[in-house]
Amino acid sequence: MRLDVVTIFPDYLRPLDLSLIGKARREGLVDLHVHDLRDFAHDRHRTVDDTPYGGGAGMVMTPQPWAEAMNSLGVSGQAAAAARPGAAVETPAANPVLIVPGPAGRLLTQEFARELAAQPWLAFACGRYEGIDERVYEHAADDLGLRVEIVSLGDYVLNGGEVAALAMIEAVTRLIPGVVGNPASIVEESHSDGLLEHPLYTKPSSWRGREVPRVLRSGDHARIADWRAQAARERTRARRPELLGQSAVEEVPDLELRPAVPADAPELLVLQRCCWLDEGRIADSWTIPPLVEDLDDVRRALARWSTWVVRDAAGRLVGSVRARAHEGLWEVGRLMVAPDLRRRGLGRRLLAHAEALAPVSVTSIALITGAASTANQRRYRRAGYRPSPSERTLLPSVEGTVEFVKRVAALPELS
Ligand code: ADE
Repeated sequence: MRLDVVTIFPDYLRPLDLSLIGKARREGLVDLHVHDLRDFAHDRHRTVDDTPYGGGAGMVMTPQPWAEAMNSLGVSGQAAAAARPGAAVETPAANPVLIVPGPAGRLLTQEFARELAAQPWLAFACGRYEGIDERVYEHAADDLGLRVEIVSLGDYVLNGGEVAALAMIEAVTRLIPGVVGNPASIVEESHSDGLLEHPLYTKPSSWRGREVPRVLRSGDHARIADWRAQAARERTRARRPELLGQSAVEEVPDLELRPAVPADAPELLVLQRCCWLDEGRIADSWTIPPLVEDLDDVRRALARWSTWVVRDAAGRLVGSVRARAHEGLWEVGRLMVAPDLRRRGLGRRLLAHAEALAPVSVTSIALITGAASTANQRRYRRAGYRPSPSERTLLPSVEGTVEFVKRVAALPELS
């Protein structure tokens, strides 16, 4: 990813040489350039501000140095020209997303950070004083064709955009594959699933009369996952209750899960096509089985798998999951929830239901999910599943998927 930061205080960005981001820069994962806005001012005092039209306290940053700074980054006007109806210009040159930190902007959330981490190029414009002349944003969007995002760290005011840019760059770059050594730590931390992270403990197991919760020393990964999910919900309810309404914790009213019958097949076909469209788009593959199966395929699968469905109060089929036994293994699949009922715990309930009905002889539960479906992978990790090492998968391999496994047999207590 390329990053440019334009500021009148380049030294503020020096911490970006340190720690994981410094390492990512040295390894070429992040190509970061810091520019002094004053290099684009032309008077003796290198002035970049002036008094506000309409009066008022403080100074406003003038547009000309900003326009020249953007030019110096190699931002082309082609994207804008191409965006105009009937324009002759071909594919626009890659341009950065222009990020302007400011308290009047869109809040930086983990979801927004993930969206930014997928961009090839971000340019940060760090304002000072009262702010930047509004025409700079208009010029960037209309004349240069840039996507302009005013982004806030929170509802408080900093002295300028530099500290905010530092925080944003850290939040974004740590999501780039390879920047953080252990990718699992990104999946499991606060906000990755809309909730605050569960409490953490390390050795010693007893410290000043305080014990590590027993379940965490049991080695039973399924129980540990349940405990952590419950602790994350309790912590979120206590500290950030407003997050609950937006996350998977807002439960749908008690809907009854029941075994599927052949008459459910047409609705199951509709739901699976709808649910796997996103996977098709993410993987850029339109031949994945849930998308190409027809009604007879779904009917045949009902005969071979135990399938459960859930209907809403109006009788609409809104969720389903299926499972079948192999030797010592319970394979779970086709977990799906109607788009309007997602993020309310229904998927978790369906998964828990399928898990609870595993035969007692089962020691592992396995499932596959799209190799590029990071959101699904996060959900399965939250539910206690871990990726199978590629040389030791339990299910037949399916191109474009990864296998996740959860052990269900209790292990002996760890010392
Ligand atoms: N600049 C000043 N205050 C800010 C904030 N809260 N977030 C981002 N940038 C800022």
